Amino acid sequence: MATSDDICLRAAGISRSFGGRQVLQDIDLDIQKSEIFGLLGPSGAGKTTLVKLFAGIDEATTGSVDLLGTRLPKLSMLQRIGYMAQSDALYMELSARENLQFFGELMGLGGQALKRRMNHVVELVGLGEHLRKPVSSYSGGMKRRLSLAIALIHEPEVLILDEPTVGIDPVMRQSIWDELRQIRAAGATIIVTTHVMDEADKCDRLGMVRDGRLIAVGTPEGLKQDTGSHTIEEAFLYYGGVRP
Ligand SMILES: Nc1ncnc2c1ncn2[C@@H]1O[C@H](COP(=O)(O)OP(=O)(O)OP(=O)(O)O)[C@@H](O)[C@H]1O
Ligand SMILES: [Mg+2]
Repeated sequence: MATSDDICLRAAGISRSFGGRQVLQDIDLDIQKSEIFGLLGPSGAGKTTLVKLFAGIDEATTGSVDLLGTRLPKLSMLQRIGYMAQSDALYMELSARENLQFFGELMGLGGQALKRRMNHVVELVGLGEHLRKPVSSYSGGMKRRLSLAIALIHEPEVLILDEPTVGIDPVMRQSIWDELRQIRAAGATIIVTTHVMDEADKCDRLGMVRDGRLIAVGTPEGLKQDTGSHTIEEAFLYYGGVRP
C-alpha cells in the first residue's frame, strides 16, 4: 500500500477553464516517487495545460496540486523541478553554452559544479560539437535537445517533460530514454507527455487524456489486459468509447 511518503504528486479535483471554456475537468491523480509517468492523448486533449499545473507555472481553476508534499504554485519549488516546455524557451541569440550557463546560474549552480553539470548534460544530448553556435542556427531537434539539457542541469527531483522527443531521431531518442531510466533509478520522478505509442509503452504507468478528462490510468500492460488490446493505441480507443 502506498503511503503519503511515496507520493510525488497529488492532483485532487482539478479543473482549468479559459474564458469560461473548460479545458480540464475533474482530474484526480497520484504519481508515485521514482516512476516514469506518461500522459498520452490526442492534440488538444489538455496534456500541456495539465503539466503546466504540475510544474506550478499555472494554477487550477478549482482543485489542488501538491508536489512533494507542498501545495503549488510555490516559487521555491521551481528549483526542485526540471520543466521542459512544449515550445522551446531559449535565448536564440545566445549559444547553447551561454543558455546552459544562464539557466544553471538561475538554478543556483556556479563554478566547478556548474561546469561538471554542463559537461554531463551536453554529452547526454549530444550537442558537444555545436555548443558555441547561436541557438538561432539550430534545427528543431537540436533546440529540443538543448531544452532537455536545461531541464536536467540542476539534477531536479521531478522532471516534467512536454513532448521531449519531438523532432529527435530514433537513435538519440533511444539514448534519451535510457538516460530517463537512469535518472529514475537515481530516485527522480519523471512525468512525460507524448503522442507516440511506442514511448507510452516505455512508461511505468500511463494516464490517458481525452477531452480534458483522465479516462484511464494504469501500467501499459494492465491497460492492454483490461481492454483485451494488443496495443496501447487499441486500449486508448477502447477507453475513448471507440470499440474496434
Ligand atoms: N491560454 C489558453 N487560452 C485559451 N485556451 C487554451 C489556452 N491554453 C490551452 N487552451 C486550450 O486548451 C485545450 C488543450 O490544450 P493543450 O495545449 O493542453 O492540449 P495538448 O493535449 O497539449 O495538445 P498537443 O498534443 O497539441 O500539444 C485546447 O483546446 C487549447 O486551445
Ligand atoms: Mg501539448
